[in-house]
Amino acid sequence: MFCKNWLLILTTLLLVAATLLAGCNDKKPAASKFAVGIVLPTKDEPRWIQDETRFHDMLIAAGYEAEILFSQGSSAKEKENVEALISKGVKVIIICPQDGTAAAAAAEAARKAGIKIISYDRLIRDTEAVDYYVTFDSIAVGAQQAQYLVDNASGTGNPLYLYAGAASDNNAFIFFEGAWGVLQPKIADGTFVIKNSAEAVGLQGKATLTRDEQAKIIGQITTNWDFNTAKNLAEATLTAATAADKGKVYILAPNDGTARAIADAFAADKDVTQYFVSGQDAEKASVQYIIDGKQSMTVFKDVRTLVKDAIAAAVALIEGKAPAARGSYNNGKIDVPAIQSAVVTVDKANVKAALIDSGYYEAGDFTGLP
Ligand code: BGC
Repeated sequence: MFCKNWLLILTTLLLVAATLLAGCNDKKPAASKFAVGIVLPTKDEPRWIQDETRFHDMLIAAGYEAEILFSQGSSAKEKENVEALISKGVKVIIICPQDGTAAAAAAEAARKAGIKIISYDRLIRDTEAVDYYVTFDSIAVGAQQAQYLVDNASGTGNPLYLYAGAASDNNAFIFFEGAWGVLQPKIADGTFVIKNSAEAVGLQGKATLTRDEQAKIIGQITTNWDFNTAKNLAEATLTAATAADKGKVYILAPNDGTARAIADAFAADKDVTQYFVSGQDAEKASVQYIIDGKQSMTVFKDVRTLVKDAIAAAVALIEGKAPAARGSYNNGKIDVPAIQSAVVTVDKANVKAALIDSGYYEAGDFTGLP
């Protein structure tokens, strides 16, 4: 026993010395194959490029090599990506599903091959084949968006326009649930009047909604996470609304890409005198919109934390251990052990402190920083 301990200490010392020497030469350890594959939904949204970049940086820093594949908005492509990773012999797949329910088939195929599945940011639904979920506090995302609108409203009868994400994304429901929890009492007390969803008006007396009720509202106000859909929807809403429904308005926009499209449409309407619009993701283009006063706020989700948690979970799963979980999310079939990280409201007042001084972005990426 004693001998074994000495052997262990000696090995550790040699390892430490080797690491220090490598450090002296300022050389990174040679990238070793990391039996992990990463599948992200699309390259067409800056949000997922943020994730790709942070994965890339963090994997390099850890001396790992892993493949990152994009599904380009297609569940079929996503399945092909997962199959390619299965045939390459990965042990863990980190996947952000394009469509939460459709991704179950890919997850099940991976599980059959003995691979562990980490659901990343979006939950894979209606299957047992999910080992772990790494996410942000998505209820807080919706709640902070709504709180911003509430904090900027006074009096009664303020026009409220609601927009949501894609119904195929479980997060769209969670964001909406978080927002509804904050907005509903303010609709009930007359602060806000919903202008663009008859389903939401029909349900405005209910403090909490079932998933089916949420689906009915989302069906009327979905942007499908698509800029053009968001723009067309906003323009159609504005055409249908009267001048009396406009003036100073409040807009729940689900993320930054759709917020910019919706904001542009509202800004172009001559009867809209002022608007408050939410967002999320702290995309660079939206940070610039916030500095320029064209978008009111964003919810900053520090992707570095998500990536760090996902890599730590993958390492644990490869070692046959259970990744650290704090709570769980029900995916319609099972409770998936999960870890979630906090999110931060960012507007013009704290944009510099939250995103530049924190080292997340560089000042040179923007003009007119406050
Ligand atoms: C993510 C958001 C993103 C949206 C659209 C959601 O699942 O959580 O960060 O903006 O999808 O891609």
